[in-house]
Amino acid sequence: MKPLIIALALMLALPAPAYAGPRQPRDLRELAHQHGIRIGTAVDIAALRDEADYRKVLNHQFNHVTAENAMKWESVEPERGAYTWADADALVHNAHRNRQRVRGHTLVWHNQLPAWLTEGVADGSITPAELKRILRDHITTQVRRYKGKIRAWDVVNEVVEEDGSLRQNIWLTNLGPGYIADAFRWAHRADPHAKLFINDYNIEWNTPKIETTLSLVKDLQARGVPIHGVGFQGHLGIQYDYPGDWANVMRRFADLGLEIAVTELDVRMVLPVTPEKLATQADYYRRALTDCLSVEACKEFTVWGFTDRHSWVPGWFDGEGAACLLDENLAPKPAYRALLGVRAR
Ligand code: XIL
Repeated sequence: MKPLIIALALMLALPAPAYAGPRQPRDLRELAHQHGIRIGTAVDIAALRDEADYRKVLNHQFNHVTAENAMKWESVEPERGAYTWADADALVHNAHRNRQRVRGHTLVWHNQLPAWLTEGVADGSITPAELKRILRDHITTQVRRYKGKIRAWDVVNEVVEEDGSLRQNIWLTNLGPGYIADAFRWAHRADPHAKLFINDYNIEWNTPKIETTLSLVKDLQARGVPIHGVGFQGHLGIQYDYPGDWANVMRRFADLGLEIAVTELDVRMVLPVTPEKLATQADYYRRALTDCLSVEACKEFTVWGFTDRHSWVPGWFDGEGAACLLDENLAPKPAYRALLGVRAR
């Protein structure tokens, strides 16, 4: 027999190895790929610029990014009419070079507004009619600038209160509830291909907030307003129970035809760090990813920073911290390994 035929005969005679399923992914990018989702992080622009080790991990591990602050109104228009795009541009540019899609965060919010805007409204020099024009121009200018470069926008952020009422912010007070539909319509006009999201915290578990957000979405849809997704921020803490109904809540929004995203996941703890707390944290991260994967419409799983070196938690929650997947030296924590262990859906 010719050597080729012998080789073929040998191959056929050998038993096929048992199918072991996909091997454990080496990193988050590979994990994302295996699950057919995007895994993202918020990006600290100063760290992206100044810290080579931060940049390396960011670009290696993640295939989706959100600007932690660089696209907020006070960052892009600190003085009226004087736009400062350098940071936001840098993020979008870096993402493009590293095959990362981008979430735009955020167009309409009550925080991190420039002083000229809040003070102008407070002293009456900006009338409601003018405020509406200002909002329309802001949305149009920003969405147009990144047209085709931003996969999804957080159009409205945190517009529902804990008790289920609409948040009393400068938009509701001056423009009435119609500002929400207007914001989606203006954003859609500026980039018809971008996915437009409503984003909020505590909708993982807070019933009044969940019900109002669901009705809000249904109402917008009934009026033909372009809304495509809901973002669950997912700011969790291990001193509270894991939101055990989260997957069901995701499903209720998915049933309305919305895309689901986890947009700002972190799991904080009361310091000091202990091995037990890290184990609980790992379990919360694992469950969050498992919940997302259990819902077909959940396509993005984004953490609010990936290293304890750059996390908003210590600055905002007294005595708490260590909320991220990697420690301050960028060493993987149990939570990072727990995510890699989540099996395909
Ligand atoms: C936070 C940033 O992480 C901080 O750096 C900043 O000082 C305040 O805002 N919900 C949101 C995010 O939608 O924009 C917030 O980000 C965290 C809570």
